[in-house]
Amino acid sequence: MPRFPDSPTSALIHAASKGGKQHDKRSADAEQRAAGRSSVTREDLEGPYPGALDTDWSGVDAFSTPERDVDHDPSEGAQHDPTQPGPGQRWSTWRSVAKGQRGPDPLPEWVVTRDAAIDTELGILKTGKEADAFLVERAVPAGASSDGGPDLALDQAATRCLLVAKRYRSLEHGQFHRGSEYTEGRTVRRTRDQRAMEDRKSAWGRAVSATQWADAEFVALREAWSAGAPVPYPVQIDGTEVLMEFIGTEETDDLGRTQAVAAPRLTRVRPSDDLLESYWEQLTHGMSVLARLGFAHGDLSPYNILADGERLVIIDLPQVVDLAANPFSSDVLLRDCRTVCDWFTARGLDVDADALFADLLAQAF
Ligand SMILES: Nc1ncnc2c1ncn2[C@@H]1O[C@H](COP(=O)(O)OP(=O)(O)OP(=O)(O)O)[C@@H](O)[C@H]1O
Ligand SMILES: [Mg+2]
Repeated sequence: MPRFPDSPTSALIHAASKGGKQHDKRSADAEQRAAGRSSVTREDLEGPYPGALDTDWSGVDAFSTPERDVDHDPSEGAQHDPTQPGPGQRWSTWRSVAKGQRGPDPLPEWVVTRDAAIDTELGILKTGKEADAFLVERAVPAGASSDGGPDLALDQAATRCLLVAKRYRSLEHGQFHRGSEYTEGRTVRRTRDQRAMEDRKSAWGRAVSATQWADAEFVALREAWSAGAPVPYPVQIDGTEVLMEFIGTEETDDLGRTQAVAAPRLTRVRPSDDLLESYWEQLTHGMSVLARLGFAHGDLSPYNILADGERLVIIDLPQVVDLAANPFSSDVLLRDCRTVCDWFTARGLDVDADALFADLLAQAF
């Protein structure tokens, strides 16, 4: 699916990234919208995939043409009605997915559920091996009709929230490194899907695979969030796209412009001794919650933990491993324990990976 070349999103991505190319074809409309909206700071590009800016975008899904207004041409730019989706926008997908594809109750009050809401793609947070994470604003434009959405009364309904859209790529474009070590013991419900996955040459097989990683992440987030683990709230899943709570802050500059700043990964922070200890407690609490649910994270490292001020948030859960059913689960859990303990030990906290491993196993069984 092609990206909108002149969308406010792409303009913002490049404007916000140091050394990135400026977009010279911004429409007046995009300029205007960009001025009043959040932009994304890509301060967190270090890590295992620093070449993300040069990524081939051909496999990345972007917002498609709005469905409800078939006569509207998004390329008309400056003339477009702000209550209708324009370039780089779509109608909120909240209502277009079934209830089971939305996040767990109780629904946090910041989640925008109104029909009149429009999703605007604000920029890319990071490209990964299998998926790309985008910043999305879901907001009810001024002048939109008054509907409260199905879940909340109008006067309580939120009108704007920031979300992360994690979009899984098909095998063709992703570099799926997670193999049977992770999926062992997991049941694939539809035998047709099973056959398709075995035949990875078929387009259906590739699509199913990407959908299943998205599904796996959504289900893991839902269970973990409901059980009290520090993970982003999973707002909804739609095919290969998981929408979740944005972990970060919004900052306003002297000109009144807001900028969304994603929380840094743990690798990038140097916490004080007290905060380091608090981080350790939060992390081990999160790992314990997962263990009691019968999961190991499976790819836990300081790259998949965000430091949001004083709180830690564990992300990137598609590969969660079933501790009871997966024959490799002990190895995976021990590796998670060692990886995180190495980081804390290097920062001066006296922690023991084997003790943590034993403790988590005891909680799981
Ligand atoms: N909910 C979120 N809030 C803020 N930032 C996020 C969120 N989810 C992901 N990110 C950012 O996007 C990056 C990639 O997300 P994630 O680790 O889930 O995807 P990935 O495809 O597995 O990436 P990688 O291959 O780098 O591990 C994260 O390191 C983080 O910087
Ligand atoms: Mg990751």
